[in-house]
Amino acid sequence: MTEKQTTTPRKIFNMESSLYEQLATPMPGMSTRVNGTKLRKLYLQSMSQQWAPTDKLEFGELEPMPERLREIWIRFGMIFYTLEEMGLHTLNHMMGAASDRLASDDVAFYLSTQCADEARHVFLIEQYLCRLGARPHFDRKFRVLSRVASQGLFRVENWLFSTLFSENFASAFLRRAKAAEIDSFGQNMCAGILKDEHRHIHFLNIVLPDMIERLSLLSRTYIKTSQFFIMKFTEHVSRCLEGDGVAVGIERRDLLEETFENLKKTYESFGVGRDFLVFPKIRTV
Ligand SMILES: [Fe+2]
Ligand SMILES: [Fe+2]
Repeated sequence: MTEKQTTTPRKIFNMESSLYEQLATPMPGMSTRVNGTKLRKLYLQSMSQQWAPTDKLEFGELEPMPERLREIWIRFGMIFYTLEEMGLHTLNHMMGAASDRLASDDVAFYLSTQCADEARHVFLIEQYLCRLGARPHFDRKFRVLSRVASQGLFRVENWLFSTLFSENFASAFLRRAKAAEIDSFGQNMCAGILKDEHRHIHFLNIVLPDMIERLSLLSRTYIKTSQFFIMKFTEHVSRCLEGDGVAVGIERRDLLEETFENLKKTYESFGVGRDFLVFPKIRTV
């Protein structure tokens, strides 16, 4: 191999890696509270992975499915719709506060793309529910989650930690739903959303380690308490879906255990140990 060949720059997103590194360099004087380079790279990745629902999915009639299955996917879809809708609106109003708190336009760049992702998710689930013959509606009992996650003290920090839970929970659910007894529209929808949710977790892996280091004793305690409440609420509410889950191959205990285990591993990778949070007991129905 010649010298020239070994030094040829790698291409990323169809551009030379040297140009890519230049585009991923934060502007001088930008925040030192976050890793601007990683955020810019994630922003570029997110922009390159944006997708149009009409390119990926067939918006005709759904293939016929047994009545019992249709009812189950409507119940799951309605909860998922509520959580995504709530996530979209919370993100919309927290985006400015987060980029202010972290003093970073890189955060604003990236979160703008995440907003587009969440809007796409709400749109898709809304369309899926309509095709199943149901009218999408927001289930108000979940509103308490967005209040606990983004209001009160330390709201930016608390919201980002809450998002770590909700994105992990959503991903664990989507992985199962994609593999469960579901029609092809539902399967493709879950696959598309899952890919986006992985990026959302990636964002949190970039900003949260630095944030944890700066937490005071009070903010740490506050966040731990609110995270316990959110997980406990989820554990409690998920009990009523036990039967539906069994019928389509989504085991509730397994779903919660995987989510909690992933969170423990993540906190371990942040350097604060698996026991950073107190996890609720998963009760048998
Ligand atoms: Fe989402
Ligand atoms: Fe998300």
